[in-house]
Amino acid sequence: APSADAGGGVAAAHPAGHGTPVTDLRGATTPAAGGTVRPYTVTARTATVALTSGHEVDAWTYDGTLPGPPLTAVQGDLVEVTLRNEDVDEGVTIHWHGYDVACGEDGAPGTTQDVVGPGAEFGYRFRADQAGTFWYHTHQVSHVGVRRGLYGTLVVAPRDAAPEDVDLAVPVHTYDGVLAIGDDDGVLDQAAEPGASVRLRLLNTDSEPHRFGLAGTAFRLAAVDGRDLNGPGEVSERALRLPAGGRYDVVFTMPDGPVALTVDGEVRLRLGGGDDDPATSGWAELDPLHYGEPADVPFTLDTTFDRHFTMVLDRGAAMVDGRPAFAQTVNGRGHPSIPEQVVAEGDLVRFTVVNRSLETHPWHLHGHGVLVLARDGQAATGSPLWVDTFDVRPGEVWDVAFEAGNPGVWMNHCHNLPHADQGMMLRLRYD
Ligand code: C2O
Ligand code: CU
Repeated sequence: APSADAGGGVAAAHPAGHGTPVTDLRGATTPAAGGTVRPYTVTARTATVALTSGHEVDAWTYDGTLPGPPLTAVQGDLVEVTLRNEDVDEGVTIHWHGYDVACGEDGAPGTTQDVVGPGAEFGYRFRADQAGTFWYHTHQVSHVGVRRGLYGTLVVAPRDAAPEDVDLAVPVHTYDGVLAIGDDDGVLDQAAEPGASVRLRLLNTDSEPHRFGLAGTAFRLAAVDGRDLNGPGEVSERALRLPAGGRYDVVFTMPDGPVALTVDGEVRLRLGGGDDDPATSGWAELDPLHYGEPADVPFTLDTTFDRHFTMVLDRGAAMVDGRPAFAQTVNGRGHPSIPEQVVAEGDLVRFTVVNRSLETHPWHLHGHGVLVLARDGQAATGSPLWVDTFDVRPGEVWDVAFEAGNPGVWMNHCHNLPHADQGMMLRLRYD
């Protein structure tokens, strides 16, 4: 039976009040001046894929690989992706996580499109206006599909900046309890000369946070969720806790000696040779809310917002679809019984997200970057922090805001995907 994901199954079972798939709000059809068309065909299929250790994963894949093909573009290009489904019986889509595409390109089955079943296909098209580190994944039974491998990286290079000497995507994913970067579940080696400029694009494609450490060099946290920070200062011996679904771009100049990246305390990537296992445990966490230089922002805690939604996250017995059930809840209800949030185009919208449970909830709104205003009532003091996924830890209260500028119907959910499956998901709808 279909699960309570954003799946077509749910929508099909509950058509009333949940709308028909949005198909008319589609993306641009031409690149920006000077841009080019990037055509991709991606085929979803089941496969047995070996990680570098030989560990075999009973996978659902895009193009037979773990992860799927890296999709790249230059800012202003038109990205055109034809998704085909060969044999994933549960169906697939592609959701462009963190990318503010037009609603009809968003890949939410039952909401923005019909699910792509075996033998079917769907064409996505959007202009790559945002430069930065993003990812894509299926949104059908996603707590199963993403875990089994239906995801990949989307990196958009800025039009006018010189590339780093070493530019490496580091997508972290756990298969059957085995942590890997890409398909490498050992230690990746990357050549890098002293003096080389390096950008590591850390991506957390799991449902739990990961903790990173960088030993052997000072570094800057240049971007969060694909959005550049203002005035990121150099730090060292600081841990980076990356929410589920989130991305951090870390930049540094390669020193004379080797550099090692740890994930959850273990070395997973070495640059410049060497095999010392540096200690990175016990380091204080770098807090992006208080990092970098302030700059003008379109709204603060003092702004008068047109809409203010409070979401209290908890778990327990709840009414789900007219019946009592155990659920991950928002304001005491589980999907599909959580009322939609309704906004009008141009509204300034504030979310207050309160976590009353004992688990972390990485909150994710589709189609809109949100500006972090405050955590636990304390205003963010660093660089403007625009994110698409933010970790609300037990007991925390987060305030974020955005301008409603991307019409349609958007999923708004916990990115711990089993939690979303267990009810922690709702929709934001434009009037
Ligand atoms: Cu990355 Cu609705 O998801
Ligand atoms: Cu959650």
